[in-house]
Amino acid sequence: MKSQPRSSPPSVKRPGRSVSIVGTGSYLPERVLTNEDLSALVDTTDEWITTRTGIKTRRIAAKDEHTSDMAARAALAAMEQANVTAEEIDLILLATASPDMVFPATACFVQTKIGAKNAACLDVSAACAGFLFAVEIAQQFITSHTYNTVMVIGAEKLSSITNWTDRNTCVLFGDGAGVAILQHRSTATHGVISTHIGSNGDYNDILWMPGGGCRTPITAENAHQHLQTIHMSGKDVYKQAVTSMLDASKKALDKAGLTIEDIACVIPHQANVRIIEAIADRLKIPLDRFFINVDRYGNTSAAAVAIALDEANRSGRLKQGDFILMVVFGGGLTWASTVIEW
Ligand code: COA
Repeated sequence: MKSQPRSSPPSVKRPGRSVSIVGTGSYLPERVLTNEDLSALVDTTDEWITTRTGIKTRRIAAKDEHTSDMAARAALAAMEQANVTAEEIDLILLATASPDMVFPATACFVQTKIGAKNAACLDVSAACAGFLFAVEIAQQFITSHTYNTVMVIGAEKLSSITNWTDRNTCVLFGDGAGVAILQHRSTATHGVISTHIGSNGDYNDILWMPGGGCRTPITAENAHQHLQTIHMSGKDVYKQAVTSMLDASKKALDKAGLTIEDIACVIPHQANVRIIEAIADRLKIPLDRFFINVDRYGNTSAAAVAIALDEANRSGRLKQGDFILMVVFGGGLTWASTVIEW
């Protein structure tokens, strides 16, 4: 296996209008929850969690720190890096499975917190795949000349929808937010090259939050059943995650006119190191080509790739001209992939 991407410039199929990622930001809450902390809550061990998932720690938001608060902190960091003012933002898309409330959209709370008074705001519901679904929507609005500047947010307070008595799920998730600002810049040659999104509702019940909607409202009678928390069939999700992410990777690469050999860095959904290892193995590229932070933050669902993108960006991992593949998977089922030139 080669450890470096192909160096000769490939023939890339670029979209009609440039869509650059002009700034990224992220926010992680202060409180660190370790595997040892969890072993005091449920029957588990650091060894079990580490070998099955690669997760060592995750962050947990404060009681009065909501999804929109974390999103707004990440948004301000991205705006500063992009040198974009609040007034310039035309659209805020916020992907989440743990909104502040069912309505209004959490994006509207963020709008007020950052003063983006000219923006239209909506939430995107595609579970862990939501950030790249929102990137695709942003790209469509920009390439169609509808908007110039779109803020794409992935933000989650999963600790608020976690069953802290269920060892099958509570060891996996964490809180946080990540943001990318997408903008048309007439002089830019780099940016989003291809996107792909997909879904399969036939498997909706292997990863879901069954209660709290109109189908099963939470009542005094069912309140003890933890219906308003994440339910998951781990083994089924694992298999679907690997096959869907492999297929999605191929689709975005084909659309871009690239092969995996051209990719300098893969930023995958941060659910589990074993899933990432399986994908690296099947794509036949070394693991060091992947950006991984799931060991520190656990699975932050829609926020995961957004946080990883910001960390990869700020740490200097992404070099100008690099081709980057982002690929995600989530409840729904949903999956998505994006190829960008940095
Ligand atoms: N600590 C100790 N034991 C645990 C545990 C924990 N935190 N969670 C589950 N177990 C037990 C189970 O009760 C089960 O015990 P049993 O066999 O006595 O019934 C056993 O461990 C299951 O072990 P194993 O078969 O080795 O689990 P696994 O290899 O399938 O790993 C997951 C479990 C959840 C880590 C794995 O299935 C997975 O990663 N799935 C995908 C999850 C995911 O990424 N979800 C989000 C996608 S967006």
